[in-house]
Order: sequence, then C-alpha cells, then structure tokens
Amino acid sequence: MPDRLNVRNFIHGGDYNPDQWTDHPEIIAKDFEMFKEARINSVTVGIFAWDKLEPSEGTYDFSWLDDVFDRAEKQGCHVILSTPSGARPRWMAEKYPEVLRVDETGRRQLFGERHNHCYTSPVYRKKVQEINRKLAERYGKRESLVLWHISNECGGECHCELCQQEFRKWMKEKYKTLDNLNRCYWNEFWSHLYTSWDQIHSPSSIGDSNVLGLNLDWHRFVTDRTIDFFENEIAPLRELTPNIPVTTNFMGGNPPDSHVFYDLDYQKFAKHVDIVSWDSYPNWANGYETTEKLAAKTALMNDVMHGLKHQNYLIMENTPSQVNWHPVNRAKLPGMHQMGSLQEIAHGADSVMYFQLHQSRGASEMFHGAVITNKLSNKTRVFKDVKQVGEALDSLAEAKDSKRLDAKVAIVFDYDNMWALDDARAYSNQSKKYWETIQRHYKAFWDRDIPVDIVSVEADLSRYELVIDPMHFMMTTEFAAKLQEFVKAGGTLVGTYVNGIVDENFLTYLGPGMDAWLKTYGLEVTETDTLYPEQKNKLEIFGKTYDVCDYCDLIEPETAKTIGTYGDFFYKGTPAVTENKLGKGTAWYLGCRSDDEFLSDFYEKLAQDLNLALDLPVKKASSKVSVQVRQTKEADYFFIINFGHEEQNVELLRRTEDVLTRETHEKGSLVLGAYDVKVLKETR
Ligand code: GLA
Ligand code: ZN
Repeated sequence: MPDRLNVRNFIHGGDYNPDQWTDHPEIIAKDFEMFKEARINSVTVGIFAWDKLEPSEGTYDFSWLDDVFDRAEKQGCHVILSTPSGARPRWMAEKYPEVLRVDETGRRQLFGERHNHCYTSPVYRKKVQEINRKLAERYGKRESLVLWHISNECGGECHCELCQQEFRKWMKEKYKTLDNLNRCYWNEFWSHLYTSWDQIHSPSSIGDSNVLGLNLDWHRFVTDRTIDFFENEIAPLRELTPNIPVTTNFMGGNPPDSHVFYDLDYQKFAKHVDIVSWDSYPNWANGYETTEKLAAKTALMNDVMHGLKHQNYLIMENTPSQVNWHPVNRAKLPGMHQMGSLQEIAHGADSVMYFQLHQSRGASEMFHGAVITNKLSNKTRVFKDVKQVGEALDSLAEAKDSKRLDAKVAIVFDYDNMWALDDARAYSNQSKKYWETIQRHYKAFWDRDIPVDIVSVEADLSRYELVIDPMHFMMTTEFAAKLQEFVKAGGTLVGTYVNGIVDENFLTYLGPGMDAWLKTYGLEVTETDTLYPEQKNKLEIFGKTYDVCDYCDLIEPETAKTIGTYGDFFYKGTPAVTENKLGKGTAWYLGCRSDDEFLSDFYEKLAQDLNLALDLPVKKASSKVSVQVRQTKEADYFFIINFGHEEQNVELLRRTEDVLTRETHEKGSLVLGAYDVKVLKETR
C-alpha cells in the first residue's frame, strides 16, 4: 500500500467542478490561468459528477474529464480524482430503489440530496465498482493523478431490510449465542429477551431506543458497515492502481462547539486509508468566542487527525472566505486566511485545499466562498488571500518533508466511551461534555506550546511521559492494565471524575471497580455528586481555592495521598484531588470538574516537574501567540502565529531566518501584526 503522496510541494488546490461548466469552455480555460496565478497546484475533480460521467446506465462520457487532465498536465498541476459515489444519478434511484436509504422508522427516502445511499445494497456496491473501474482504467496511468478521493464525507446510516440482515450477522459473529447477547444487554430488564436472531432490529424511536448495549453496537456496526462499503469501493482501485494512495475526507470541528465528528469511529476507519484527510471549517471572525479560543479547538482537531495514523495528513477542504451554512456567514478578516492555513500546516498538514476552486452559479452552494467567484476576477480580496497562501507554501517547499515533534504528552480519546457516556441515562445530559473536557485539558498545553498527541486506547503509551485520560467512563480491563503498566514504568497519569465505571458491554463493574484501576489510582470512588448548573463547589489545593462545577467524585483513598479537598457540601474537607505513587510513576486523580484556572496551574506544575517545555527561540507574553514546530533532519521550523487582533511582541532569543520573507532576524523584539504568521528556521 502506498503510504505517501508523490508530490513535490505542499498541495494547494481544492474541489473543482468543471462538470458544471462544460458548455462554457472559456470559463474552464480562464480557471486554469487563474490557478497558475494563485499558485494552485492541484485540482480535486469528479466529486458528485456521476450523471456527467454516466448520463444513462452503461453510457459513459469522459471527454470533459479528459480535458481537465490535459489542462492540468499542461501546467504541472496534480489531479486528485474523486469517485462519484457521494451522489448518484436519478436514473439509478428510479430503476433500483434499493440504493436509497431507509430511515430508523422504516421509511424509504425519495431520491434527493446527496450522501444518502444504502451502504449494503448489492446494486449500489456493484455500480460503484463499475464506475470506479472505468475511472481507474482510464486515468490510472495519467502522470498527474496523485491520489484517490473516495466518495465524499462518508456518514449516515441505513435501516433497510438488507442492512438489518447484515446487523444480525454482525451480532451473531460477535455474541455467538443468544444467551450471551441477552446477558450482555441485560435483556431481562423490561422483558426484552431475544429468542431468535431475527428479532434483532436497529435502534429506533418507534422501537428499542433504551437498550444501551444495542445503541452502542449500532454505532459500532455503522462504522464497520461504512468501512466495508469503502473497502468494496476501493477494490478496483487497489487492483488497477496499486501505487496511487487512497483517502476519504473526514469531518470535524464545525461550529459552534468544534466537536469531533460523532457518527463514525475514525480511529477504526483511518486504518483503511493511506493518508488521512479532513475538511476544516473553523468559524474565524465569529461573534461568540475569541480567535485564540477557536484556534486552540482547531489545533486540537488537527491533532486528532494527526493522531489517527500518527502521520502527516491533508486538509482536503476549507473555505477561502466564508461558507454558506454557519448561522452567520462572516468573511475572514484580512490576514485570517493565511493564519488559519499555516496553523494547519504547523500541526502536520501537507496541504491547503479549498471547497471550492470555482463558485457554482446556482443551487444551494452558489454563495459559498470560492477561490474564483462568479465575479471571475483576480482583484477580489479572496483571490489575493489565496495567492498569498500559495506563495507562502512555495516558500515553505524546503520543509515539505518535515514532521511534527514527538509529543511527550498524550490525551486519550475513545469513541466507544463518547457514545456510551452520552447515552448513559445518568449524571446530567447537559453537563457530560466529554469533548469539551478534552478541549479544556488540551488548551492548558496549547497555551504553553507543549505538543500533545490525541491517542486511542490502542496507542503505545510508552512513548509518552504524561498521559491524560479524562472521563473514561467505559473502560476495558485491558486498558486499565495498560495504564497501570505505563505508571509502573515511570509514567505520569492523570485521570478524572466519572472514570472506569462500565465495561465494553455497557455493564457496570461489580464491587468497587477493576482491580488494576483501583491499584493504579490507589483509591475507591464511593459516589458521584452531579450538580445543577448554578451549584458550585470549591477545590482547595496548593494554597488556593478554585471553582468546581458539574461533577464531584467522593473518594476513599487507599494508598493515594490527598492533595486537594472539597470546600463545600456534605463532603467538605474530603479528598478531591489525589496522587498515588506506583512503581516508578505517579497517578493523579482529579475527582471534580474544576475551572480552567486550576487546570492551568495544575498542568503548569506537571510541565515543570516533567520538564515538558520546548526549547523555543522565542519567548511570548501572551497565549494569543502560538508556537508549533515541524522538523526535518537538518532544521527546525517554528510557526509563530498571532491569533490576536492586536499587534503582539515576542522576544527572539536567538538569531533565526524567516522562511516566508528570507530575512534574518537578530535577537531582540519581534513584532507580529494582527493574525500575522512568521515561520522561523534554525538549522541544526
Ligand atoms: C462539505 C462538502 C462539500 C461542500 C462543503 C461546504 O465539506 O464536502 O461538498 O458542501 O461542505 O462547506
Ligand atoms: Zn440499507
């Protein structure tokens, strides 16, 4: 399997739909001229173009796509070729209704929209393979083809009878016997025992929605089915073009909460792609949170994507200006486009690509930002911004093969845990906030420019000094043992409230908890108090008092030492934060949800104890400035970005070279304008 892209430079390109303009060859010709001017070196074509490729069943027309390849090749532009399965033509739905999705109440959808096929339908699977085979046969040998873009933003689920049958098969394989299944789902509750495999049905608002194990398995199954469909889709490509890597564009980080994409387990899915790519739409210039707060969340999403394969990744889409689907579609302020683009490069992206290169003239996305708008002008601000990024990427070409630094800190993120915690009929549904909790812990490190990896439960923890495992409600005994090994070997572990409660079948552990867990933290949690939003407790620790909200675990220490105590309620004075020494390492337990100030102070202490700070050539005075590092064998590249809308001074501690301007900066004060970026280089 190819594990890298054969390209000379950072990729600067994006979704391009000349299929909408075949009656306007002059527009297409002009587009390519403007691409050259904006230093666009890649076009992603064929997304949603099925009816142009196969206007009626078995009749193909590739002339327009041949033309795109020819034009691209004439100017040394790469082509990323998309398979068209993200949207199908009307003739197909008309002739084969089974390709249409069925919703959770059993209703088959009409033809419409996109991303709404049944991923089990044998007809759809066959049609997808047929068209993909044609594409691979025709374009597989074109020198410009660098990457397959499979479908588009895979997601959604289907509840048709074919999918139900697959679900039953999946269950049978997993549980082997009905007795076992009934036991794992605790089906004696409310008389829900299955007496035949055929009784199994996906969760539904008009059927079972309260069997927690079933809900969780359905999430797992949807991921597995999506991957199975994907594997079916890429089979002809693997066969005919084994040297062309394969990706599909993942999602995440959308406003208002910049949440990780919820519906699919990307940690599983990523094993099936050669390179991770994702669509990044941070709402810069919004009216509800500061740019630097959003920058920390966007940094985190980038680190999630890096963590999926522990490799550089691609930005497959972002908007060059505004989108059309935020509640308010604000344009980026001057400087923001370069700021956001280079932030992603700084975290390990090897591309800046757009949705879209040329704006649609009509239909629902006609007002979505584009590199070339319907004004067809190179004088627009967005065109100039894009060109500026193109030039910056060209200047950075020498750093193309650079990688992020090895992080010493990892935060564990687990999909099963997210789904289970959210579905647990417990605590408070409004305050679970698993993702937000990860964002808050992460920000304490981002503020200090300390790199963090976001890792799955499968990760090799031995490469880290510090592992943070927040709200790990659903935890396997294997993972509890792994954490214990990590601590015994000298690692520092931080666990938080609502931790280690249920097993992978959504059954609670009996007794005080898992042995390994209890020994690692050296305590028992005897009860968890869930607070109303207006109720606040206090945490007294390190000679200070901090605010506590939402969750307070009541702790009985065994070997753990009490470091902080509760300041209020009936458990006032009892342990809230503990430290347990085990083997060569330490396990901290944060029993309550504290304010950001505590997280900042606490992680500052750990950063000092564990010597986590990087040796940077700059000293900054504000957390609005962020520093990220990529390195090659010869040099370090420091991306210094001002996310503030006022000028910032940083102190340059050593003489460095500015890669974007080729100036040399002497020691002393360095000024960054609003949303300014400097890339400083130090040769080793
Ligand atoms: C998604 C899709 C694109 C387009 C953009 C608009 O990311 O993949 O086709 O709809 O959103 O922002
Ligand atoms: Zn189906």
